Amino acid sequence: MQHIHTEVIKIDPVHPEEAKIERAAALIRAGEVVVFPTETVYGLGANALQARAVEGIFAAKGRPFSDPLIVHIAGKDALKDLTGALPEQVKQLTREFWPGPLTLILPRSPLVPKLVTAGLETVAVRMPSHPIALALIRAAGSPIAAPSANRFMHISPTTAQHALGDLDGRVPLILDGGPCAVGVESTVLDLCSAVPTILRPGGLSLEALRTVLPEVQLSTRHNVVRGIAQTEAVAQKAPGQLFTHYAPSVPLILFEGSEEAMRAAILNEIRRRRAEGEYVGVLVADEDVATFNDSGALVRALGSAAAPEQVAAALFAGMRALEVVGVQVILCRSFDEHGLGLAVRDRLLRAASGNVLNVGEN
Ligand code: TXA
Ligand code: MG
Repeated sequence: MQHIHTEVIKIDPVHPEEAKIERAAALIRAGEVVVFPTETVYGLGANALQARAVEGIFAAKGRPFSDPLIVHIAGKDALKDLTGALPEQVKQLTREFWPGPLTLILPRSPLVPKLVTAGLETVAVRMPSHPIALALIRAAGSPIAAPSANRFMHISPTTAQHALGDLDGRVPLILDGGPCAVGVESTVLDLCSAVPTILRPGGLSLEALRTVLPEVQLSTRHNVVRGIAQTEAVAQKAPGQLFTHYAPSVPLILFEGSEEAMRAAILNEIRRRRAEGEYVGVLVADEDVATFNDSGALVRALGSAAAPEQVAAALFAGMRALEVVGVQVILCRSFDEHGLGLAVRDRLLRAASGNVLNVGEN
């Protein structure tokens, strides 16, 4: 791919300056790609209804065409161009959770290019809540297809600097609206299966979804991440959901067990590796920090273990911070699955891709 100059423009995340939005929107209208913030992670966007523009996303990201994209809209009325008649269930869900971190899998209308859906007869749609994302979609005058703005297989970016690190020279413009508030990607909910199914836990919690949709279930793909062999059925239902996704470029080892057992095991592992001269990075909760003060490891606290939304917001930035300073391994504690903890644990299991140590209860 040809090297192009990447411009980064700082933009007000609450009241985005119109002229800056217009510059980005003009690029989208011209069939180019633009990186922009959403409340979950940064996205790499292009006009969703123009196949040529969407090709640019795959090229910049190095993503295979078999991985479908999410179409972002600025208002519910845009749904009619993307899908068929709206069942009551969809109306309820969008009333309750849009704009926000919920992506719905719906039947695809013929207006949506096959490239966007990787040939599937369904389309993923989301209305983000970030003022910059909404302003950009409105100004562009079309829905915007956007995956996370990272190179294929890397961690999603939660700051403009992360996106620049992955896509410098591959995109013309990055809108820098500061760090993303949610920090993990949207919850992907399949409404085309017999029972509504979460294909990817994310920024909207399972508990919140159940208040509207008590019958919602977690995809068996979730078990794939837990190490059970991937079946063909799962691969077809959730393309692009392979458990090798989201990995940092350094190996990550995930410790699971009681608080005390995790702390003791991580401390042991730091000592063993330090003795061999390794540079070790650690991701823990605020409550754990004191344990590791003099351990010789580089320690990043992700927030309180009792507040999973703090951990979600800090998780990808924590992984990237350790990665860029060149640690040789990342040791990470796990978090329980309430609220956004479900998405946090999912991303950690993916990042660990099998390197999970169960250290028991004491
Ligand atoms: O929060 C987010 O969702 C971010 C921001 C930018 O909106 N976007 C994002 O996009 O995470 P991406 O492409 O990295 O992840 C989208 C996921 C993919 O893993 C894909 O498998 C799933 O959504 N997906 C998209 N269309 C689908 C479809 N028709 N059926 C099943 N899964 C689909
Ligand atoms: Mg992604």
